[in-house]
Amino acid sequence: MYTNIPPADEVWQKYHDYINPALADLMRYGGLVSVETRAEGVYVWDDQGNKYIDCLGGYGVFALGHRHPKVVEAVKSWLDKIPLSSKLFLNYPETLLGEKLAEILPGDIQYSFFGNSGSEAVEGALKLARMYTGKKKIIYTDGAYHGVTMGALSATGRDVYRQPFEPLVPGFIKVPFGDADAIAHTIDEDTAAVIIEPIQGEGGIVLPPDDYLKKVRDITKEKGILLILDEVQTGMGRTGAMFASELYGVEPDIIALGKALGGGVMPIGAFSSTPEIWSAFDPFPIIHESTFGGNPLATVAAVATIDVMKEEDLPAQAKEKGKKLLDGLKELVEAYDGFVANVRGKGLMIGVEMAYEGYGIPMMSFLMEEGVIVAYALNNPKVIRLEPPLIISYEEIDKVLDAWNKALKKMKSFVDSL
Ligand SMILES: Cc1ncc(COP(=O)(O)O)c(C=O)c1O
Repeated sequence: MYTNIPPADEVWQKYHDYINPALADLMRYGGLVSVETRAEGVYVWDDQGNKYIDCLGGYGVFALGHRHPKVVEAVKSWLDKIPLSSKLFLNYPETLLGEKLAEILPGDIQYSFFGNSGSEAVEGALKLARMYTGKKKIIYTDGAYHGVTMGALSATGRDVYRQPFEPLVPGFIKVPFGDADAIAHTIDEDTAAVIIEPIQGEGGIVLPPDDYLKKVRDITKEKGILLILDEVQTGMGRTGAMFASELYGVEPDIIALGKALGGGVMPIGAFSSTPEIWSAFDPFPIIHESTFGGNPLATVAAVATIDVMKEEDLPAQAKEKGKKLLDGLKELVEAYDGFVANVRGKGLMIGVEMAYEGYGIPMMSFLMEEGVIVAYALNNPKVIRLEPPLIISYEEIDKVLDAWNKALKKMKSFVDSL
């Protein structure tokens, strides 16, 4: 039902008339008037029958690729059983997911709350931190992206997203990313928590100094404040470990998850913490709620996702495949002196920083012509990020590298012709 997709121009017109006219115009200007018609594994197809390797991966959602059969099967089973719970009775898939997460989450993190997005996960994490500590201030980092709801936005470090909505939530203080001393100097008696992405995603795949998170962990423990790690993008195997915090040997007090948690099939976000911190909710257990949060379809999708991640050891795959892709890109860009400023990443979370911001959009379309989709980072348009499914094969990585080579060649001719 409703799967007979009309021609792209017709869909574009509806997008223009009923969704977002300015964005529709921008997409037409950028030559992006195609409709996604099919998706499977690492591939997506458009209405012209073009097939693309998905290196954008829904901004990191498709760790398992598109429509992983085990996740689809789990969701279908519950679709025919209880798609949305009545809310009055106990909801089995939600408990199963809570248990499975407790098994894999760092340290003694045990309890989880499920919402529908990464932003909601961050909102909950911030509220829990204030509730548990009874303090108000939250330290966040420059270039951070935690989402666009008011609380998450208050911790997001790019003015263009913030300014039109000011005044934001009071008590949020920005420090440079990667500078642990700045955090130490900013903490005062009213500080509740520090919120950090272990690797900044939308900031442009920014890796902190190796000892940064450990130092922050020590400082936060010493000063008695909470460390919230936003692993919405870095979590679920993306960086070569189940959670990026493992790479840096750090156990947060509160963790936020989203994106890949739903296996690329269902939207879900979560924030999780230790029994001690969670006890802040005890006096009023429904103080933080969500109508759709924890629904059977989303939670069972996440249960199946965790099982697949473990069965196929996807974090280890991300580590190895990420090395091949990163090394290949580094080698490749050397031949294009002056076009690429830097290539960096961990696992299959990779950023290619172009020399100029204006190079980002043409590179995206040249890559599309070569059958690879990517996008630039929201807080840093110079950086094209690659977050392919962790199930990508080595041959497909070779194809991606070949596409980059051809796209860079086109970029060079384009610049030479100006
Ligand atoms: C680190 C991080 N936190 C939070 C979010 C917000 O997630 P959502 O868009 O699902 O609300 C994002 C989205 O890109 C993110 O990268």
